[in-house]
Amino acid sequence: MRIGNIDIWPNVILAPMAGITAHPFRVICKRHGAGLVVTELISSHAIHYKNQKTFGMFDWTDEERPAFCQLFGGDPATMAEAARVVVEQGCDGVDINMGCWVPKVAKTGAGAALLKDLCQAEKVVRAVVEAVPEVPVTVKVRTGWSQGDVTAIRFAKAAEEAGVKAVTVHARFASQGFTGTADWSIIGEVKAAVSKIPVIGNGDIETPQDARRMLDETGCDAVMVGRAAMGNPWLLQRIALYLETGVDSPEPTVEERVAVAREHARLQVAQMGEHIGVRELRGLLGHYFKGVPGAPRIREALTKANTLADIESILDGVGYPLLTTSPPCPLS
Ligand SMILES: Cc1cc2nc3c(=O)[nH]c(=O)nc-3n(C[C@H](O)[C@H](O)[C@H](O)COP(=O)(O)O)c2cc1C
Repeated sequence: MRIGNIDIWPNVILAPMAGITAHPFRVICKRHGAGLVVTELISSHAIHYKNQKTFGMFDWTDEERPAFCQLFGGDPATMAEAARVVVEQGCDGVDINMGCWVPKVAKTGAGAALLKDLCQAEKVVRAVVEAVPEVPVTVKVRTGWSQGDVTAIRFAKAAEEAGVKAVTVHARFASQGFTGTADWSIIGEVKAAVSKIPVIGNGDIETPQDARRMLDETGCDAVMVGRAAMGNPWLLQRIALYLETGVDSPEPTVEERVAVAREHARLQVAQMGEHIGVRELRGLLGHYFKGVPGAPRIREALTKANTLADIESILDGVGYPLLTTSPPCPLS
C-alpha cells in the first residue's frame, strides 16, 4: 500500500493510543513488524502555545520510520500551524484525529466532534493539506457521531477531494465509545466511495484471522490494530505473516514476553528518566503477561515498583509463580 509517496509494508498498522504509543512501544512494534506507527493524539493548541510537555511528544526516531504524527484541533489555522511544526520536527506524515469522543477533546469542537460539522471538518483538512504539501496527510474517523447517523462515507469523499492521502475508519460511532462491536460494513462502504486513496480498517481485530476477514469482507487496503497489540506486539508480525502466507505462528513464550517487557522498560526509562518512566511502566508492563500464570500477582507487584531495578527483579521472577508464594516442601 502507498500513502502518498510512502510505501507501507506490511499493511499492518499500529493504532494511535494515548498513553501507550509513545516512542518505546512504537519502536518495539516497528521491530515486530508494524508497517506504520502513529503517535498518540497531540493538541494543536498546545503546540501553538509552545507547551514544553507537548514538544516532548515529538519523540520519533529514524528506527520508527515511516512515523506519522497525529494532531487534533477544530481550528483550521491552528491545525495548519501545528502541522508545519511537526513536519519541521521530521515526522513523515500528519494524521488528523476525527475519532476522539472524550469530552475534553470533543467539547472544543475537535476530534470526533468534527463529524457533526462536515464543513468545518473539510476546512481543517484543507488547511492542513495546504500547510504541509511535502508530506501525506491522513484522517482517522469514526463511523459518525451519534448512532445511526453515518458520516464517514460522505466525509471520506470530501477528504479525498481535499487532498488527503488515506482514511482510517474505526467502525464505531463516537457515541459508542468502545462499547458494542465494530460494524465493518461501513469500512467497505467507505472503500467503495473513494476512488484514489487507500482505506485503513480499524476496530476489534484480535487475531490474524480477524485481519484476513476484515480485508476480505471490506476490500480495505490495510488493517490497524489497537488494544489487541497492547503488550502483544507479536500480533502485528503474526498478522503480517498470516496475510502473506496463510500460516499462523505460535503465541510468544513467557521468556519472550519477559525479554520484550524488559526492553520496553529500558527504552522507557532511557527516554523519560527513571521517575516518570517507572510510574508509566507500572500500568503498561502488565499487558505483556495477560494469560500468563501469576499475571495478577505480577501486575500487583508492578504497581509498587519505584525503580528500574524493582522492575527488573519483578521480571526476573515471572514464570516462577510458586517461589514467592509457598514453596513445595522438599520432604513431602
Ligand atoms: C487507551 C487508548 C487510547 C487511544 N488513543 C487514541 C488516540 O490518541 N488517537 C486515536 O485516533 N485513537 C485512539 N484510540 C483509538 C484506537 O486508535 C482505535 O481506533 C480503537 O482502539 C479501536 O481499535 P481496536 O479495536 O483495535 O482497539 C485509543 C484507544 C485506546 C484503547
